[in-house]
Amino acid sequence: MVYGEYIQEPAVQLTKLLAQHLPSNINTTYLTNSGTEAIEGALKLARRFTGRSQIIAAKKAYHGNTMGAMSVADFKERKHPFLPLIPDVKFITFNNVLELELITKKTACVILETIQGGAGFITPKNEYLARVQQRCNAVGALLILDEIQPGIGRTGRLFGFQNYKCSPDIVVMGKGLGGGMPIGAFSASKKIMDSLKDKPKLGHITTFGGNPVIAAAALATLKEILTSNIITQTLDKERLIKQELSHPLITEIRGQGLMLAAIMPTAEIVNQVILKAQKRGLILFWLLFEAKAIRITPPLTISNEDLIKGCNIITDILDEINSDTL
Ligand SMILES: Cc1ncc(COP(=O)(O)O)c(C=O)c1O
Repeated sequence: MVYGEYIQEPAVQLTKLLAQHLPSNINTTYLTNSGTEAIEGALKLARRFTGRSQIIAAKKAYHGNTMGAMSVADFKERKHPFLPLIPDVKFITFNNVLELELITKKTACVILETIQGGAGFITPKNEYLARVQQRCNAVGALLILDEIQPGIGRTGRLFGFQNYKCSPDIVVMGKGLGGGMPIGAFSASKKIMDSLKDKPKLGHITTFGGNPVIAAAALATLKEILTSNIITQTLDKERLIKQELSHPLITEIRGQGLMLAAIMPTAEIVNQVILKAQKRGLILFWLLFEAKAIRITPPLTISNEDLIKGCNIITDILDEINSDTL
C-alpha cells in the first residue's frame, strides 16, 4: 500500500475512469493527498521530462501552499517570510498573448489555472489557453493546467479546459474529486509520466496517495457526477444565480458555472455582505487578490430553492447597506 509496490483496485478503477474522460493522450494518473502535493508532482514531472528548469506561471495565480506551489503563486506578502523559494520562476499576465514570447526553449513548463480563482474568477479570453498551448508546443515546453477549482463539473464540463479548445500536457486535480475526502491527482501521457520511474527510482513518493478508502470515495463521486445530470444542471444554476442577483450594488458577476464572483463597488461592502450573510446561515467567502469580489461556489448538489434563498439573503443585505448609506 505504502509506495505503490502493490496495486490496489479502487485506485486502478478511479484512474481508469479518469482516463476515459480526459483527452485520449492523458491516460496516466498519479494520486496524491492534496491539491498542493499534486502541483509539486506536476512541476517535478515537467522538470524531469524536459530536463529544463524554468517555470512560467501567471501573475495573481494561486496553486497551493507548499514550497513549490508557493513559488508559482503570486502573493508577495505571503511568500516573503519563506524566501528563498524555488528559483527560475517567471510570471506572465494571464490573458496577455504578447507576453507568450517569454516562453522559450529554456522553459520546462507553463502552469496556469484554467480559470484564475484568487484573481477574481477570470476566465481565459480570445483562445488564450489554445495560444499558450501552441507556444508551448513550438518550444517544447509542457502546459500544466490547474483544474483544482474548476475541475469535476463546476464549470458545466467535467474539466474547465474542455470549454476552451485546449488540451494540456499535465492536468492537476483536487478538491471536488474527493467528494469531501482529501485527494489530489496529476495526469499526463504515459510517456511523460514514465519519466518519474527512474533516475531516481520513484521520482515522487507518497505514503497515502492512492489510499483505497480515499480512492473509493473519489470513484463513487466521479461515477455519481458522470451518471447524474449534476454537470448540466450547473449551467442552469449559473443562470438562476445571475437572474436572482440583479442589484445596483453588484457591478458584475464573473466566472462560469458554479464558480462565480459577484463584484461590488468597494471592499468594505464585500466585508459587510460576507459577515452578515454568515450570521444568516449563508456561507460566502473572499478571494485572495480581488477585494471587491464575493466568492459564490456552492456544492454542485445545491437545490434551486436553496440557491434562491441564498441570493435573497445577499440582495436583502445589499438593500440594507444601500438604505444605510442614503
Ligand atoms: C487553484 C488551486 N490550486 C491549488 C490549490 C491547493 O489545493 P489544496 O488546498 O488541496 O492543497 C487550491 C486550493 O485552494 C486552489 O484553489
